[in-house]
Amino acid sequence: MIGDVTGKSVLVIGGTRGIGVAIVRRLAEGGASVGLTGRDLKAAEGTAMRIGAKAKGYALDVDDRAAIDDVVKSFDAAYDGADALVYSAGISPTYTSGEKLDVADWDSILSVNLTGAFVAAKAFARHAIERGRSASIVFVGSIAGSSGAARLTAYSASKAGLVGLAKSLALDWARYGIRVNVLAPGWVETDMTTGVRASDTLSKWIESRTPQGRMAKPEEIADMATFLVSDSASFATGAVFMLDGGWTAG
Ligand SMILES: NC(=O)c1ccc[n+]([C@@H]2O[C@H](COP(=O)([O-])OP(=O)(O)OC[C@H]3O[C@@H](n4cnc5c(N)ncnc54)[C@H](OP(=O)(O)O)[C@@H]3O)[C@@H](O)[C@H]2O)c1
Repeated sequence: MIGDVTGKSVLVIGGTRGIGVAIVRRLAEGGASVGLTGRDLKAAEGTAMRIGAKAKGYALDVDDRAAIDDVVKSFDAAYDGADALVYSAGISPTYTSGEKLDVADWDSILSVNLTGAFVAAKAFARHAIERGRSASIVFVGSIAGSSGAARLTAYSASKAGLVGLAKSLALDWARYGIRVNVLAPGWVETDMTTGVRASDTLSKWIESRTPQGRMAKPEEIADMATFLVSDSASFATGAVFMLDGGWTAG
C-alpha cells in the first residue's frame, strides 16, 4: 500500500495545532505510534488523548535546546527506536519590511524555525545511527523558502535555511539510511494565517496569486508528510516537495 505507516513510530515536533496536528492525525489513522509536542504539557496531552491510544503528548519549547534532546531521547526509549521525525514547529510573528525588522525578532524566528530543526534532527539522527536503524526526517518548510516573501524576511530566510540544512544532512546521512526532505506548503488554513484570512485584500491577493485559486487545508499537507515518512518514499532524500497550488510554478 502506498504511504503505509503501520507500526512506525514518529515524533512530530509542533504537533498540537495546524499542519502538525493534521500530520499526527493522519499518521495515527495509518497505524503509526505518534509522539506530539507543544509548549504546554496539558495541551499536548489533551491533543494526544483526542487522537487516541496511538498518540502521546510531550511538552517542548524548541528554544530550549537541552529539552529537545530530552524529548527525542525519551521518545526513542519509549518506542525502542524511532522511525521518523517531523519538524513542524514554526512561527511568523512579524510582518515588517526588512529595513525595520528588529534583530531580536530575526533571532527568535531563526531559533524556532531553523536552529530548532537542526538540533532536533541531530538528536534524532544520533539515536538512529547508534541503533543502526534507517529513518526519515521531514522539515515543514514553505514557499517562502524558495521564492522569498516581502515583509517576511526572517521567516523566508529561515525556510530557505531549512532547504540547505535538509540537503546537507541528506548527503551526510544517506550512508546511514536516513532520508531528509522538506515539505514546502503554500498558504494553509491554520492559526498562523488567521490574520491574513481576516483581511479581504490579502485573501483576494492569495486567491488570485495561487493558480488553484485557494489556500490548502492542513490535511492536504498531511498526506504528503505521511508519504515521506513511509517506505514508499525510500528513494527520496535531499528534496523539496512543493504543495502550493501552483504558487512557485510560474
Ligand atoms: N499556515 C501556513 O500557511 C503555512 C505555510 C507554509 C508553511 N507553514 C509552516 O508549517 C508549520 C506549521 O505551521 P501552522 O500553520 O500549522 O502553524 P500553527 O497552527 O501556528 O502551529 C504552530 C505549531 O508550532 C509550535 N510552536 C510554535 N513555537 C514553538 C516553540 N517555541 N517551541 C515548540 N513548538 C512551537 C506550536 O506549538 P504550541 O501549541 O505550543 O504553540 C504549534 O504546534 C510551520 O513551520 C510554518 O512555518 C505554514
